[in-house]
Amino acid sequence: MPLQSWPVTREFDPKGMPFRRLGGTGLRVPVFSLGGWLTLGGTVTGDPVKEIIKTAFDAGINMFDTAEAYAAGKSELEMGRVIKELGLRRTDLVITTKLFWGLRKGPNDHGLSRKHIIEGTYESLERLGLDYVDVIFAHRPDKTVPMEEIVRAFNYVIEKGQAFYWATSEWSARDIEEAYHIADKLNLIPPIAEQCKHHLFHRQRPEVEYKPLYEKYHYGTTIWSALAGGILTGKYNNGIPPGTRFDDHKEFFKGVINSFNDESGKEQFDKVRKLSELAEKELGCKVAHLALAWVAQNPNTSTVILGASRPEQITENLKALEVIPKLTPEVLKKIEEIVGTAPEQESTWGR
Ligand SMILES: NC(=O)c1ccc[n+]([C@@H]2O[C@H](COP(=O)([O-])OP(=O)(O)OC[C@H]3O[C@@H](n4cnc5c(N)ncnc54)[C@H](OP(=O)(O)O)[C@@H]3O)[C@@H](O)[C@H]2O)c1
Repeated sequence: MPLQSWPVTREFDPKGMPFRRLGGTGLRVPVFSLGGWLTLGGTVTGDPVKEIIKTAFDAGINMFDTAEAYAAGKSELEMGRVIKELGLRRTDLVITTKLFWGLRKGPNDHGLSRKHIIEGTYESLERLGLDYVDVIFAHRPDKTVPMEEIVRAFNYVIEKGQAFYWATSEWSARDIEEAYHIADKLNLIPPIAEQCKHHLFHRQRPEVEYKPLYEKYHYGTTIWSALAGGILTGKYNNGIPPGTRFDDHKEFFKGVINSFNDESGKEQFDKVRKLSELAEKELGCKVAHLALAWVAQNPNTSTVILGASRPEQITENLKALEVIPKLTPEVLKKIEEIVGTAPEQESTWGR
């Protein structure tokens, strides 16, 4: 199969973007990548999708994340269309997609059965207009399918050349361990990374539960919602501005929106205000830069997946790259003092 069937008209220039290995693999991923949840193919369609992807690619972002379920398949369609129209070289790109939720209601149209993993992969590739993705994620664990079936099916997809690696998203450390052990026992390829939520107000799982996975397996992470959906930009401090994520998706985010007015919500916004002050006074940046740099400086972060509804948000958010080296132990301590969210680590009983 040819790598691509369209002419290359845009050359990749990393523009100083740092790259990291995705966990223990040889695959290099940019510290900041771009995802399409709710935006690309959802609230953003047509030419604006192209503007967003072009802005990202021209700034050194060559990794794009989507999922079969994003905008009911339209995210993959739009991303695939734009990659072709921009004339991006396939080998310059790292494309990741995710399977689980499916698009139809049939009993075999979602989940992680061998049937859906294999058929879902075919359908995702068809929508993307690609021969393969670089990483295919199990978007959620599926307790109703034997783990051996899941591991074998993802290995089949890899052996077919439809993906180079497989990975997990929002799996428990226990489920990941099980997949690892089955792969080890059967001489199969284990998952390589976890796509997990990590931001200043959500830390337990990525910082405590997964710690043994980083240490034992060099498990990678592709982090989502590093800005807590926009809360860590400060734009929701005084309510929900029109045309923003929480305004556009009121029903979906009902729970989060309701929490804005309770004690924990008010406390959270108070912390965002204090973080803004720290960012401006000590780092000469905005709170969004501080929040993104904070996730990126974590040694277990492979890539932070940005979300953007406009090209300017990408340009703006990439200023976080300059803030990473400014997060000295003293500054990190001040951030901890403000947020007070550091989870308790498991005891080593004095060892
Ligand atoms: N595996 C999973 O289960 C999972 C779950 C969620 C996400 N993800 C992946 O992670 C990616 C990122 O997640 P996310 O979109 O939740 O990330 P996020 O960074 O927390 O939120 C991104 C949103 O914040 C707003 N924003 C971004 N930069 C801004 C700025 N400088 N100023 C003001 N507003 C700004 C934009 O929304 P508005 O402009 O519309 O307000 C943007 O769409 C997704 O696209 C997806 O690929 C994966």
